[in-house]
Amino acid sequence: MYCYRKVTDDLYWVGANERRLALFENIHPIPKGVSYNAYLLLDKRTVLFDTVDWAACRQLLENIEALLRGRPLDYLVINHMEPDHAASIEEILLRYPKVKVISTEKAFLLMRQFGFGAIDSHSLEEVKEGDTKSFGDHLVAFVAAPMVHWPEAMVTFDTTNGVLFSADAFGSFGSLDGKLFNDEVNFDRDWIDEARRYLTNIVGKYGPHIQYLLKKASTVDIKIICPLHGPVWRSDLGYFLDKYDKWSRYEPEEKGVLIIYASMYGNTESAANALAAMLVEKGVKNVTMYDVSNTHVSYLISETFRLSHVVLVSVTYNLGIYPLIHNYLADLKALNVQKRTFALVENGSWAPKAGSLMRQFLDEELKLMDILDEEVTISSSMTENDLPAMETLVDSLVASVNKG
Ligand code: FEO
Repeated sequence: MYCYRKVTDDLYWVGANERRLALFENIHPIPKGVSYNAYLLLDKRTVLFDTVDWAACRQLLENIEALLRGRPLDYLVINHMEPDHAASIEEILLRYPKVKVISTEKAFLLMRQFGFGAIDSHSLEEVKEGDTKSFGDHLVAFVAAPMVHWPEAMVTFDTTNGVLFSADAFGSFGSLDGKLFNDEVNFDRDWIDEARRYLTNIVGKYGPHIQYLLKKASTVDIKIICPLHGPVWRSDLGYFLDKYDKWSRYEPEEKGVLIIYASMYGNTESAANALAAMLVEKGVKNVTMYDVSNTHVSYLISETFRLSHVVLVSVTYNLGIYPLIHNYLADLKALNVQKRTFALVENGSWAPKAGSLMRQFLDEELKLMDILDEEVTISSSMTENDLPAMETLVDSLVASVNKG
């Protein structure tokens, strides 16, 4: 059965929801699913903007067929070639042999690399920054968006009605469950965490490229944002643009403390609990804690983007950093995360090393990170003897959080 939603008078969402996939990109858990968005414009010419993952192809085809009502599909615009959107290109080409494909030079290269041989029996229109195309009433402009999220990416702006087909930008994890528009959901309550986790883990590394795109976006009058994942934005665009601006400049959204702990037998966890309680007692209420061993790193990355301060509380393992803490640090580096203040607590029963090694990693491998001088070393388990050092660390953290 087809399932589409009207976006404007002649534009329809024809995508699909994915609730069976456990890991997006085979790495990030998506317990709330994800949507693959595609859009069909019924102008004098009919235009499909992007396709969907292979798993959702049947739904896409049913949606298009129901809306076309026997009309041909004239154009397929590919804004982004990653297979979660592009896997169904070949099927569209086979079913609509006269469809013309519009995309960038790099995207056509990638289509051939991915084995979409059918493109070479179709008419291809290569577009670049600033090119325009009329489909009848609608005149669209193509805007390069390299590295948001792949090098071939572009976005398409409909100058007639202010619709921006934004590719991966402004997307989110989470299935749509019938609700398409941002004003049909409580985004700030139910969606923001998954939107942040999506952006920061998938495109977080490319902050400067997002900033470049945001600058271009500020020069046109965008009325509706149609991303390739998650809700369509038709109101309160400033709310989401502001989040994107902060995330892509690596500025925290909130002053607060993220405590990430690694504990083998509960003793390090106990120290982390004592630290959290001391922070709250001293007035820092925005504190959140995660056990690194049972939290997927994508959540830790997302929380790091949200909060201003991070405390790493870690056992020493094989005379090194606990592997899962090391994995978190390596991900911070891979995603180019910057501008946070860190505090360190280490535990070691005979040769504590985690503290100095975490400090070295933060110092040498990451950019623009502050590390508080105060550090606490616990020998196997925290005792009252450790309280003065912990209080000194907490006082320094509180002062840092309250600064500015
Ligand atoms: Fe949703 Fe970069 O693909």
